[in-house]
Amino acid sequence: MKEQIIELIMTAAKLDRETVAGILEIPPKADMGDYAFPCFQLAKTLRKAPPAIAADIAAKIGDVDIIDKLEVKGAYLNFFLKKEMFVKSMLERADTANFGSSAAGKGKTICIDYSSPNVAKNFHVGHLRTTIIGNSLYKIYSKLGYHVERINHLGDWGTQFGKLIVAYKAWGSREAVEENGVAELMRLYVKFHEEADKNDALNDEARAWFTKMEHGNEEALEIWRWFVDISLKEYKGTYELLGMEFDHYTGESFYRDKTAAVIEKLQNANLLEESEGARIVDLEEYNMAPCLIMKKDGSSIYATRDLAAVYYRKETYDFEKCLYVTGQEQKLHFAQVFKVMELLGNDWAKDSLVHIPYGLVSLEGAKLSTRSGNIIYAEDILLEAIDKVKKTIEEKNPNLEDKDEVAKIVGVGAILFHDLYNQRIKDVSFKWDKVLNFDGETGPYVQYTYVRCASILRAVSYDENADINCGLLLDDEAVALLKEINRFPQVVMDAAEKYEPSVVARFAMDVAQSFSRFYNACRVNVEDTDLRNARVKLVALTKNTLKDALDLLGIQCPEQM
Ligand code: ARG
Repeated sequence: MKEQIIELIMTAAKLDRETVAGILEIPPKADMGDYAFPCFQLAKTLRKAPPAIAADIAAKIGDVDIIDKLEVKGAYLNFFLKKEMFVKSMLERADTANFGSSAAGKGKTICIDYSSPNVAKNFHVGHLRTTIIGNSLYKIYSKLGYHVERINHLGDWGTQFGKLIVAYKAWGSREAVEENGVAELMRLYVKFHEEADKNDALNDEARAWFTKMEHGNEEALEIWRWFVDISLKEYKGTYELLGMEFDHYTGESFYRDKTAAVIEKLQNANLLEESEGARIVDLEEYNMAPCLIMKKDGSSIYATRDLAAVYYRKETYDFEKCLYVTGQEQKLHFAQVFKVMELLGNDWAKDSLVHIPYGLVSLEGAKLSTRSGNIIYAEDILLEAIDKVKKTIEEKNPNLEDKDEVAKIVGVGAILFHDLYNQRIKDVSFKWDKVLNFDGETGPYVQYTYVRCASILRAVSYDENADINCGLLLDDEAVALLKEINRFPQVVMDAAEKYEPSVVARFAMDVAQSFSRFYNACRVNVEDTDLRNARVKLVALTKNTLKDALDLLGIQCPEQM
């Protein structure tokens, strides 16, 4: 219907499509009409006052069958559409299997670099955020037809492994590592630092071991590989709980034989400078600290491997964009890497490489970080959520089937929803009663709305293929719900454009709340068959839309709870 209005205005005002489409808007309040055409911008070209322009267009459009009322209000021309036709067009739009998806990204590839925990360290709640946000962006871009490569850029290379080898040899044992996994590796790492504070020679030893690794020493690589395997096994347990997967586990070590080519490129471009024995790219001109490329002892670093990774991904996947989801504290690192790529003559780097930062996580106010010793494992948070939900189920619905499965879907969903409900840059604070509140703005509330829809559809008899009489869906609450649902395609596009899953989470909440108002106002299981079929249609649409929206957040829906 928007198209039809655009055409009416084009003809009446003799304007091109682009101008009209750019100006036409959906007003913030229903009493301002279904569409509004503000005429401010046109005043200059048409040399007329905006209200006169609006009146003029209104007169030229005249009586049209899709329009109930045309109203000139100041500079605005407000369109009130015939409700019934509006409802009909909304229904047609929303009642398709692939509602919300599009072909916008057909033939294009997006790389998403996310999660990427650091081997031999625990998978903590900070990494939970990148994992949840990255996974949601993967779903959102896939919905728009993009091909997405999910890349886990594990922190599995660097001087810390030299330290770990030294510590393992001095204070560790095979049995302890086998038995306690990452926790033992972390213990060894801490032990190393305690000892190295007293004895600096240990640092030299650690550097020597990392150099051995970089030169392919088998003994060193064997221990390192073992540490990686042990860590990965633990991380995969967390991913399984979350129901998430990756296409590539190409961590930093994957690029160790690819950094020499980067250094050569930098040399050829005359970008490398020496500074206190190390090699850097000076970025002063761009108001940034220098980008460190090679340490004094010749070892490569984080940034070098990231530069190699950009080249590798561009050549291998030919991405349109490569997104990096990490905490804000890596803002400078990515700005440096992207700038160096640009200076190397890669003009595409400017628009294609995007850092997607997010805020900190705290638990009931306490900051969670490995340094403060207050280490919270992501897995523990997830398990605790599942456990709490299980208790609620035992209390309120002890006869529920598949209790464990439902507790998992609701518990994990609660954490995900809570994480994604606010703009990603905002800090997240966990308060259990807030995360799991079934009446609040939470994942369980949206899931519960879905379950209500499912149970209505089970309880009411209706004809799925009946022609819907749109004249029966004109209650304010029904129209409001349909309007809400209809935003879905735009919501998916907005979320992708802003790299912001919260847009989808807010939408899911709006639909759930709007459904609740509809359900309170309009009985579904009524005598009249036509009215019943029409209202059931809305319930079914709500159910599908909630499922699709939650799926974009990585959240599943139980059929009962
Ligand atoms: N391992 C890093 C960390 O935990 C994140 C890696 C992000 N990706 C990248 N290409 N640098 O902080």
